[in-house]
Amino acid sequence: MNFKELGIDQDIVDALETKGITSPFPIQEQAIPLALTGQDIIGQAKTGTGKTFGFGLPLLQSLGLNPEKGAKALVVVPTRELAIQVAEDLKLAASNRPTMVAAIYGGKAYEEQVAEINAGAQVIVGTPGRLIDLSKQKLLDLGNIRFMVLDEADEMLDLGFLPDVEKLFAYTPDGRQTMLFSATMPGSIVTMARKYQNRPVHIRTNDPDEGHTKADIKQFVYRAHALDKDEVVGRILQAEGRGKTVIFTKTKRQASKVSEELVDRGFNATALHGDMTQEARERSMTAFRSGKKDILVATEVAARGIDVDDVTHVINYTIPEDEKAYLHRVGRTGRAGRLGIAVTFVDWEDLTRWTHINTALEFGQPDPTETYSSSAHLFSDLNIAAGTKGRIAKSKRPEGWKPGNDRDSGHAGNDRANSGRAGGQSGRNHSGGGNRGARDRNGKGAQPHKSSGQKAAGHEAPAHGDGEHKRPATPRTRNRTRKNSGGTAS
Ligand SMILES: Nc1ncnc2c1ncn2[C@@H]1O[C@H](COP(=O)(O)OP(=O)(O)OP(=O)(O)O)[C@@H](O)[C@H]1O
Ligand SMILES: [Mg+2]
Repeated sequence: MNFKELGIDQDIVDALETKGITSPFPIQEQAIPLALTGQDIIGQAKTGTGKTFGFGLPLLQSLGLNPEKGAKALVVVPTRELAIQVAEDLKLAASNRPTMVAAIYGGKAYEEQVAEINAGAQVIVGTPGRLIDLSKQKLLDLGNIRFMVLDEADEMLDLGFLPDVEKLFAYTPDGRQTMLFSATMPGSIVTMARKYQNRPVHIRTNDPDEGHTKADIKQFVYRAHALDKDEVVGRILQAEGRGKTVIFTKTKRQASKVSEELVDRGFNATALHGDMTQEARERSMTAFRSGKKDILVATEVAARGIDVDDVTHVINYTIPEDEKAYLHRVGRTGRAGRLGIAVTFVDWEDLTRWTHINTALEFGQPDPTETYSSSAHLFSDLNIAAGTKGRIAKSKRPEGWKPGNDRDSGHAGNDRANSGRAGGQSGRNHSGGGNRGARDRNGKGAQPHKSSGQKAAGHEAPAHGDGEHKRPATPRTRNRTRKNSGGTAS
């Protein structure tokens, strides 16, 4: 099966081929022909399995070879980084046709974005806050939208975003085609989503007997001790075959702190969180994509959708909020058929939360192994050479390294030149060559990393991000500082 046979025009097929994308992934095989009939869709497939082109290709195809100018398709996403990335993916697919794609997100001056809208961009990819803002100011007209997509739909329809998303639905015509995509789709959200859709078809590419987690991500859960965590992380970062690594923290402050600590230990880390200026955020992402930095210490802002080649390891420095957050976070590795490793630290006080995640995912590990930086199983599980310490010896540090030389790991205000809005996508490489354990593109290769006891579980719990977008206070988020950071949703 190829994209042409799914009804996609040759110029798009050619554009994808330049990135080595030739055979459709399962969600694309199912979603594309169906979406091309005009059907409303709820598309559910695991992280890193190609949902973006699953909605993006039919959307571009349906607009036609040379669409009239003006916004016709709207893709709504939860974070600025994802808006930039999805827009880049769609620009790639549309690179051989006049269709224009604009990324509309907060933290940036209006002028450039308004100029793209005025130039006649037909596809708008954006975050809710800025989309509403421009619509209210009559700078963006959503009255001719024919296709609307909510990417990370369960998050977009969760309490934090719902009021904004409802407004966006209200700005668009009733007759539009509406597509919702996510790796996680709790039943309650599916039920609620039907209100915004016209007899949607729910596509799920997961086999019913397949686990809820991804088999191609080897997953470890350790009960770790706060004061020892940096040392453990430092050792994991020297594991055999360790490529790019995403480390998730609970708070923005913690992301800065851990990033600074790792830089101090000789690692090439940078931070990403909602207290950084948009320019610093984009600079961090660009550096991480290009490989200039190989460790991204991030809050929940990087948990969903972000696709960076060659992320071999994800470390949950603090436990995710719930099982959905767990799946999205660890899903930053093991993408497009590749293998990955995820390590989750569970603090003593988070054991109950882990129990909940473990049950929901039928993970089969109710009691995380107590783990110290010196534990033998840490070294054997993760392939760390005996005797490795959590600091890079001064003699082995990269040239030019000095303590605290990572200005992006800090706070807002560390602004250097703007790295540009492309978000460093040129550093992405879809050819798939060279990655440790790369599988064939159809995802049919061996799955050597079978985790124990993985089973699907339809558990539903309210989603909670790390508070980088507006959410009503709930008991589970009571300890968070929630100052208005101009975060992800604006
Ligand atoms: N048919 C294909 N062949 C090869 N690579 C592909 C194909 N489709 C998508 N990819 C690549 O797979 C990677 C993951 O795709 P994508 O970001 O769309 O996943 P996703 O399902 O949206 O994941 P998430 O749930 O994390 O958002 C991207 O690098 C993308 O370019
Ligand atoms: Mg995605």
